[in-house]
Amino acid sequence: MRKKVTVVGSGNVGATTALRLAHAELCDVVMTDIVEGIPQGKALDMLQAGPITGSDSRITGTNDYKETANSDVVVVTAGFPRQPGMSRDDLLMKNYEVIKATTEKIIEYSPNTILVMVTNPLDAMCQAALRVSKFPKHRVIGMAGVLDSARFRTFIAEALNVSVENVQGFVLGGHGDEMVPVVSYSSVAGIPLTDLMDAATLEAIVKRTRGGGGEIVKYLKTGSAFYAPSAAVFEMVEAILKDKKKILPCAAYLEGEYGINGLYVGVPCKLGEKGIEKIYEVKLTPNETELLKKSAEAVRELINVIKC
Ligand code: APR
Repeated sequence: MRKKVTVVGSGNVGATTALRLAHAELCDVVMTDIVEGIPQGKALDMLQAGPITGSDSRITGTNDYKETANSDVVVVTAGFPRQPGMSRDDLLMKNYEVIKATTEKIIEYSPNTILVMVTNPLDAMCQAALRVSKFPKHRVIGMAGVLDSARFRTFIAEALNVSVENVQGFVLGGHGDEMVPVVSYSSVAGIPLTDLMDAATLEAIVKRTRGGGGEIVKYLKTGSAFYAPSAAVFEMVEAILKDKKKILPCAAYLEGEYGINGLYVGVPCKLGEKGIEKIYEVKLTPNETELLKKSAEAVRELINVIKC
């Protein structure tokens, strides 16, 4: 029997994720949304692409959580984008309410699932889902690091005119302006990045990575990125469903690792069928440690607002 994945929120990120999962024939997909008709219509459209793309995955759309029952993984993309006049805290509270409501529904029908959170502000929404679900921490994971690292790797490959496949690099910390692209662990085909690039170029890439999401919002004006985010979710879900034991940067609940306690922060994790199977504590330079702490403090400020 094929695995089952529910995608909550059938907007740009949700729908693109559903399409990627189904067309790779990785699992059956249930799409949900608060808006009636949207998940049904998009799911039907995607399903009809199956004969062309050669996928027998079933895709269904619903507004009823009953149909999401016994999902192996639930990807949560439901939420609102920031609108003009809305403060960061307004958005935080609005999306917190969405996460609370959707998490309660998800766990009612899939008590053993693994939650992959996408809604922003990511780290705070992970924490909200952890508290509401009362799941063990290895079953609530946030997607941020894979995306931020992909942006970092794209810019490095572009600057050096090499294949993106050669570029290893990861980004730690919260999914915000304070994220930490870790230069000391980044390399191109095993060659340290610092041997290939001067400090100024590297600094410019780090800066562009931090603002990677914002750069796209500026172009789109009314929406945010979804192609790369959905690709990042796909890689995480695939690692879980295929029990790949893949090491990826994910938002994980830290209890002392990196000197951070009781907070979701992006760190290297091993993803397999149980969710997060191991958190790796890599040695950072004093500067990177300092930046990671600063990034965690920014996450803590959000948690203080939603009080969870
Ligand atoms: N239950 C289910 N779906 C909901 C709910 C809810 N309570 N509230 C809102 N939604 C749905 C909306 O109806 C919409 O279809 O969530 C969807 C969000 O889609 P988009 O507005 O297209 O946003 P998207 O670009 O997909 O981003 C979703 O992911 O990357 C993050 O910052 C991004 O937080 C945002 C999320």
